[in-house]
Amino acid sequence: MKKTLLALLLTAPAFAQDIEGLLKQMTLDEKLGQIQQFSDFGFSTGPSAAADNEKQKERIRKGGVGSILNCVGAKWTNELQREAVEKSRLKVPILFGFDVIHGHRTTFPTPLGEAASFDPKGCEETAAIAAKESRAQGVRWTFAPMVDIARDARWGRIVEGAGEDAYLGSKLATARVQGFQRGGKYAACAKHWVAYGAAEGGRDYNTVDVSERALREVYFPPFKACVDAGVMTFMTSFNETAGIPSTANRFILTDVLRKEWGFRGFVVSDYESVDELRNHGLSADGAEAGLDSINAGLDMEMVSQHIAQNGAALIRSGKLQQSTVDEAVRRILRVKKQLGLWENPYTDEAPEQSVLKDPAHRALARTSAARSLVLLKNDKNVLPLQSPKNILVVGPLGDNQADLLGPWHGDGRKEEVITLLQGLKNRYPNATVTFQKGCDFKGPVETLNLAGADVVIVAVGEAEAMSGEARSRSMIGLPGEQEALVKQVHNSGKPYVVTLFNGRPLALGWVAENCPTLLECWFPGSEAGNAVADVLSGDVNPGAKLPVSFPRNVGQCPIYYNHKNTGRPANLRPEYVSTYVDVDNSPQYRFGYGLSYTTFKIDGVVVAADHTVTATVTNTGTREGDEVVQLYIRDKVASVTRPVRELRGFQRVALKPGASQTVKFPLGDRELGFYDRAMRWTVEPGEFEVYVGNSSEAPKATSFFIQ
Ligand code: GLC
Repeated sequence: MKKTLLALLLTAPAFAQDIEGLLKQMTLDEKLGQIQQFSDFGFSTGPSAAADNEKQKERIRKGGVGSILNCVGAKWTNELQREAVEKSRLKVPILFGFDVIHGHRTTFPTPLGEAASFDPKGCEETAAIAAKESRAQGVRWTFAPMVDIARDARWGRIVEGAGEDAYLGSKLATARVQGFQRGGKYAACAKHWVAYGAAEGGRDYNTVDVSERALREVYFPPFKACVDAGVMTFMTSFNETAGIPSTANRFILTDVLRKEWGFRGFVVSDYESVDELRNHGLSADGAEAGLDSINAGLDMEMVSQHIAQNGAALIRSGKLQQSTVDEAVRRILRVKKQLGLWENPYTDEAPEQSVLKDPAHRALARTSAARSLVLLKNDKNVLPLQSPKNILVVGPLGDNQADLLGPWHGDGRKEEVITLLQGLKNRYPNATVTFQKGCDFKGPVETLNLAGADVVIVAVGEAEAMSGEARSRSMIGLPGEQEALVKQVHNSGKPYVVTLFNGRPLALGWVAENCPTLLECWFPGSEAGNAVADVLSGDVNPGAKLPVSFPRNVGQCPIYYNHKNTGRPANLRPEYVSTYVDVDNSPQYRFGYGLSYTTFKIDGVVVAADHTVTATVTNTGTREGDEVVQLYIRDKVASVTRPVRELRGFQRVALKPGASQTVKFPLGDRELGFYDRAMRWTVEPGEFEVYVGNSSEAPKATSFFIQ
């Protein structure tokens, strides 16, 4: 390695550190090559593999490959990198990217689950480990964090983000970018720019038509938080917004991102989303699609090749300016320079496996997963388990490795997952812990043999492939006959716990109404079983809260806590108000809700002259635990209607029994303002109500006036 590096330094052109100088030396083809991202290089198998791989290396040597996604492995990426850095004319390094969404080899909870921890520091740490592991395999760029606000549980990719709230989403986006980019030699990617989660009907890739106000107040903020955190790249979304697909939308790619926000990184399309401009009916052909996207402000094309293949002709025709191509390449080279790719283009192959298998990473996965579990019900105090001697685990997720990793699990290996059954055996080595599946995600329910069990753990929910990309569901209950399995256990009279493993919020119906003990586990990742056992046993007191509302049924979707009051709010009068005739307006479980094995009191709310809100939280129970103190405001009357509540502060506090802590929430223009009718951020005079508590149902504490 040292010899190669030395050779590189000796021959590296002086301009390697001078982007403008490099640009001047690049041919148009070499510039268009930087704009091109390919996928899966070297994946070729079968009789033509050698020829295919050689053809790809030849393309690299000609400077035709700026970035490659889905190549993972120090040896492999080094092999391809050598073709660029040692055999191409200008030796511009390749940027290797991969979907490191919630961990790499060590898999952490899916992002929606991790968001339930309301723990930005924890999210930063898991992102940093994910970057460390994937970097050991030659990856220097992740296509994360996904920061799409999602209010519709039908949308499969709700699993990938931080839920329904822009304030929580912004805090976690900041943390994840800072985690991924810690040390500065690894790039994060804010995606999917923009409003991908607002797809009509919750149907993936579907049309989005939201107002500019909704964009600015709901969908933009987590992306702006990423820019403020120094995110190096953005990725466009597949959807259109108000008639213009994001990949060719100058308003979002240039007017907002560049001119308003001053973003200096580069923007990559989503997978073939340039080509899809033809399907949208925006571009007549590939050449037009390439032109429409780069002229709007796109910098790199993922997999489809319309810019690279048509760029020269478009310039000759005068439709595309050379300066536009230069600016895209400049942005890409700037990020490559920021990443130190000229100084360190290669990955040390020696530590790869030890990094991937670092036990400290597994320990973090276990802690992170346990901190993400939300206790929804514990009516009979079945939890924490009291030294059970005979535990029966039932359900399709009880002894299941593959599904507990969750969608977009990167390089996570199902064979390395601790199942719920194994986790309970680990925690209760002297107990009898057995398993009966009972049913799958479809098909009949078997009759269980419950005799002898002290307690039954019913592990139900979704298969991994029921959420994630292209996995929207029109019905969002427990799939198949799982509810019947729960009923069978319920009717037996045995003490039981329902553990939910799911990507999206589920409409739990009968289960929510009738089961006394309910623990939301999401997809907990590599250490799933140990983490769930930690909480079931009480070794860890659950302290997480829902980052997303759980609807009573799919008909309520989209449903979210920070809704508008409307002219006929449900509480106005008994009828002719905005309600359904067949279901209550309220969700099954609210944003910010979650129980504990102890109890807390939140009081002493005071608003200072500068509007800083302080409150005191006390552990009034007998067991140590965490509470998430939440501050909501309501701007009662404004020139634009305001939500009935808006989260404007949260803090997860760990307290021993009897202990108290005072928490402070500053309220300034950023927290109290909104976009007025002229789309200017403003704080208007008037009354602001203050709500402080442990969910979005927090009681009104006081109010203050802005003069
Ligand atoms: C996918 C996803 C995007 C991902 C990209 C590369 O279609 O939409 O989130 O990063 O392709 O895998």
